[in-house]
Amino acid sequence: MQEQQFEDLKKRAGEESSKADSLNSLNEIKAKFVGKNGEITALLKGMKDIPFESRASYGKNVNALKEEVSAIFVKKEQELKAREREDRFKKEAVDITLPGKRFEVGGLHPLNIVRNKIIEAFSSLGFEVFEGPEIDSDYYCFQALNIPKDHPARDMQDTFYINDNILLRPHTSPGQVRTMENKKPPIKILSPGRVYRADDDASHSPMFHQIEGLVVDKGVSLCDLKGLLDEFVKLIFDEDTKTRFRPSYFPFTEPSVEVDVTCCKCHGKGCGLCKNTGWIEILGAGVVNKKVLEMSGIDSEKYSGLAFGLGIERITMIKYGISDIRTLFESNVKFLEQFNRR
Ligand code: DAH
Repeated sequence: MQEQQFEDLKKRAGEESSKADSLNSLNEIKAKFVGKNGEITALLKGMKDIPFESRASYGKNVNALKEEVSAIFVKKEQELKAREREDRFKKEAVDITLPGKRFEVGGLHPLNIVRNKIIEAFSSLGFEVFEGPEIDSDYYCFQALNIPKDHPARDMQDTFYINDNILLRPHTSPGQVRTMENKKPPIKILSPGRVYRADDDASHSPMFHQIEGLVVDKGVSLCDLKGLLDEFVKLIFDEDTKTRFRPSYFPFTEPSVEVDVTCCKCHGKGCGLCKNTGWIEILGAGVVNKKVLEMSGIDSEKYSGLAFGLGIERITMIKYGISDIRTLFESNVKFLEQFNRR
């Protein structure tokens, strides 16, 4: 009778646990049999009502039953754990053959790339960088550069005036004056920065960038300028780029030159970029006018100077074959990405 009852109980524990589909439901079933209020626990508690003679064998049988039932649960628990682990593996499986996620990284603007290249090239030739203010006075922008109030050269630079005396600098040349006022020769500086002119078409922008260069020392001459710029264009364009000087006029240099380089596209043969001349103008330069040296407190009997000024946009457009300056200011990512290909 008791044997039958135990057998039934064992059978039920087996059946019920076989239906458990998670560790939680298995724990509930386990509690029903071997928990504090479970059936087998109740059997053990009922021992006191068993006649003394059969108590020992009853206890043994209940304990044996408990062990067998517990073993069923342990087996089921292992089975469920293995299944849960496998399900998790399936769910978390990663296809390592898929391409990885690419993180977008910013890059330098072409104007900054070229600006840095120019500064690097001149630094290797011993130049330091000095940045002047973008809003400057008539004195620094014009008068101290030998461009007096009624001078026609002012017309070349359609200047944005803030008032009669204060303006947005139309070139970086005031950097020369500010340097000479503050530094004793020998001087070898670059002055890069934004400049402003009321001009707007495919090759002019109301805001653009220039780099000014100034050398002041004993005995510097036009020959040094030629040597310096020859070296520079080789670093910026390529090794076999040549320079040529054409006479020009700037009030702050005497003599003044315009500097051409052999076309970087056709190497001097003639093409659309150089308008079939084989040459492209890249900058203005000259020997610093004695008046300019004197106005800034430099003894022009003892020292002489070289100056040059170049447009970063112009060099960038020549170097990369860009035909419209406006593309440099449109923030079109597709266009800008090309300059930072890794
Ligand atoms: N400031 C001139 C311009 O903006 C460029 C220039 C020409 C600068 C000759 C110089 C120079 O230093 O010597 O057009």
